[in-house]
Amino acid sequence: MANHAAKNNLREKASKITQIMHVGIAEDEQHYAIAPPLYMTSTYSFEALGKPRACDYGRTHNPNRDILAKAVSILESGACSTIVSSGMAAVHLPVQAFMEHNDLIIAPKGSYGSTIRLFNSLQDKGYIRVKWVDFLDFDLLQDVIATEKPRMVFMETISNPLLRTYDIEEIAKLTQRHDALLVVDNTFTPGVVFPLELGADVVLHSATKYLNGHSDIVAGTVTAKTEQHGKQLAHWANSAGTTAAPFDAYQIMRGMRTLFERMEKHQATALKIATFLDSHDAVETVYYPGLTSAQGHAALEKYGHGFGAMVTFDLKGDLDTVRTFIERLNWFSLAVSLGGFESLVCHPPTMTHSGVQKDILAEAGITDNTVRLAIGLEDADDLIDDLTQALA
Ligand SMILES: Cc1ncc(COP(=O)(O)O)c(C=O)c1O
Repeated sequence: MANHAAKNNLREKASKITQIMHVGIAEDEQHYAIAPPLYMTSTYSFEALGKPRACDYGRTHNPNRDILAKAVSILESGACSTIVSSGMAAVHLPVQAFMEHNDLIIAPKGSYGSTIRLFNSLQDKGYIRVKWVDFLDFDLLQDVIATEKPRMVFMETISNPLLRTYDIEEIAKLTQRHDALLVVDNTFTPGVVFPLELGADVVLHSATKYLNGHSDIVAGTVTAKTEQHGKQLAHWANSAGTTAAPFDAYQIMRGMRTLFERMEKHQATALKIATFLDSHDAVETVYYPGLTSAQGHAALEKYGHGFGAMVTFDLKGDLDTVRTFIERLNWFSLAVSLGGFESLVCHPPTMTHSGVQKDILAEAGITDNTVRLAIGLEDADDLIDDLTQALA
């Protein structure tokens, strides 16, 4: 297993940027277009009876999905990738592909709300079992993995919304020792953390976010470290019919060309904003892992190329204080999602996590005072001026 070469080897990261930039260039053999053409077709003609060409049917094959899959595999240092219709389809796919009836998933308390809802709903139907564990207690996690023998450990690189960061390298050592699969949702940190290089087996994204980057597409990607796992994932996406639409793959590939540049800017602004909030009297706690005092700083400092661009904090006061603050903001739209060019503000307990029971939220540390900012590509000082007047 590679250690945190991902962090140390800047040359390797630079080379990924160049390779992604060149995926799909002049591969169209009719006109040799620099930008790959859009293949809007549901089906393809056969050469002759019993002789299909490389693509036969749109659910199974599409050149735009293949181009994007190639770029995402380069990004994540994986063997192969499957492009699906949403981030939640991406979260579901490894469960469909690798879990048997009654197998156990272990995942951290405080995960993304829809992931909690999906795994709990699958458990309620009797398909799988799920155990939500406090990953901050590493001894407990070690114990649970050793005794309960999960088929899969599922985690987010940086959790949504409290930006908890658990050491992927250390958890990968555990899953390898106990023959479990480690699946990492890397939605918050594409090009910043490379989970497969840290020992994970599968890495996935809501491509709706940074991979696309322009807030106009919903899609997901799943990348496997091994060819064998990649084939199983592709089989299930095709069988369940969750592969993404050609236009969506085309747009996301367009976004991928600027991913690394955008992440640099998103992250630099996020750090400035987190630092500003951390010293503001109206703010109780800032969770941004780029702050040395934050929970996840050490792990990301070790293997990350930055700390992401989500800034979550608790405001002092009550729900009315939060409401007033949000109403006063000018440059932050009140919306779920992240990873686009625009900055967003979200109130997790009533928005992204509204489907999760109050006691589960409270246990995870998500309160009515919790506010999540998705930092966009605007000028950092404009955003800080806006926050200053809204907090006044
Ligand atoms: C960490 C994480 N994973 C998965 C998803 C689901 O993605 P989608 O909305 O594209 O289905 C989201 C959406 O916000 C997310 O934040």
